[in-house]
Amino acid sequence: MSEQLQPVGVIGVGWVGLVTAACFAELGHRVIARDIVPEKVEALSRGEVAIHEPGLEDLLRRNAERITFTTEMSELLEGARLLFVCVDTPPTYSGDADLSRVRAVVEEMPSESEHVLVMKSTVPAGTGDSIRRDMPERSYVSCPEFLKEGTAVEDFMHPDRVVIGADPGDEGAADAVEELYKPLGGEILRTDVSSAEMIKLASNAFLATKISFINEIANVCEEVGADVGQVAKGMGLDERIGSSFLRAGIGYGGSCFPKDVSALKMLAGNTGYHFQLLTAVIEVNELQKRRVVNKLEKHLGSLIGKRIALLGLAFKPDTDDMREASSLVLSARLQGEGAEVVAYDPVASERAADLLASVEMASSAMEALDGADAVVLVTEWREFAELDWAAAAARMARPLLVDGRNFLDPKVLTGAGFEYEGIGRQSAGDRRISASSVARVQSTPHSLRP
Ligand code: UGA
Repeated sequence: MSEQLQPVGVIGVGWVGLVTAACFAELGHRVIARDIVPEKVEALSRGEVAIHEPGLEDLLRRNAERITFTTEMSELLEGARLLFVCVDTPPTYSGDADLSRVRAVVEEMPSESEHVLVMKSTVPAGTGDSIRRDMPERSYVSCPEFLKEGTAVEDFMHPDRVVIGADPGDEGAADAVEELYKPLGGEILRTDVSSAEMIKLASNAFLATKISFINEIANVCEEVGADVGQVAKGMGLDERIGSSFLRAGIGYGGSCFPKDVSALKMLAGNTGYHFQLLTAVIEVNELQKRRVVNKLEKHLGSLIGKRIALLGLAFKPDTDDMREASSLVLSARLQGEGAEVVAYDPVASERAADLLASVEMASSAMEALDGADAVVLVTEWREFAELDWAAAAARMARPLLVDGRNFLDPKVLTGAGFEYEGIGRQSAGDRRISASSVARVQSTPHSLRP
């Protein structure tokens, strides 16, 4: 069967490229994956996977015979017609997307050939248009990726939707891409190139907006004595709203949301349009991480000389990705206030150590808690739910926990001897604050109320 399937080329074997290569190989395709970093290619050829992504290593091992890793563009061009571009588009200092790696790929393409560039990298709307202007002979298809780190293989294999954008003249190339995705199920949406590019940016920006929205609701809940978990549940039951991405916490991170929200804001700004809503989404996300510091100060007073433990460093569980992780901002803020920071992450400690040179890395959660004046749960790794919290309380100088992800059961923690603070969740401390703030609002004349 595999002989009948068309070979697939992948350019750039980062998270998206590697998952794309492994999954197309699993579907029976021959895959040629090219990266410019020789060490990466050598390691992958030996079967070594440097990123933590559940299921990926198994998939690569199982399909090793179908995948070739190479640094040579010529090998890729000889072996495959459909070339999936999966290079990264990190933010520049200005907040725009850095397209230099995408441009480098385009420059390496022969000016006339049967190859089809299939853009998976997240690029600002208009990028495809400009590539096609430069290379009118080139077939170009936009096929944005919607996978999430931590569940990337599952997301690739079972997509909600596959968006395939092509402009007039490239319908045949788009049909070929559609053939590849058909076996996966999921709705296939055909659009023009610019619309496909916008769908990706708008989807990430909308999800980020949902998170910042619920985080602001959580902050108000703290003031008025409501519980954000119950509020989110009640909102989510309205199918127009939906229940996902309404988990309040200390904000979103990762390699995508911060970059894509900023890129969309800048894309609009470059056309002269001020995307006000996204400006607020970004600001709320920044401030949300810092609220943890206020919560700690509420209990501990000055943080000078206080030992604060961070549980979890990766931007979310089931990944070792530290890009734009909340832990980076939080640890810097805590150290800025004079605190001593100790941290533990089940898989990201090694990656994090390079970025957090002045943070002490513990080899277990319990070790991190030893003698700590407070602990902040930053990433909701499952093992933290299973910790013996009574034993943990006994090891700490002061059993105070700020649950930055509303992950733990406040009753269990209180029962274990902890002072518990969530985000927009009710705790004894919150109730005292909310009662007084409600009284304050009630005694304020209407015209002066915030
Ligand atoms: C995100 C999108 O969800 C994917 O669809 C997209 O393909 C990807 O970006 C990308 O552009 O490549 P990812 O960055 O892997 O995927 O992570 P998410 O699971 O979406 O989480 C992003 C952040 O939001 C995390 O820091 C997470 O903790 C936070 N989050 C998520 C919340 O704070 N609350 C929520 O309710 C959900």
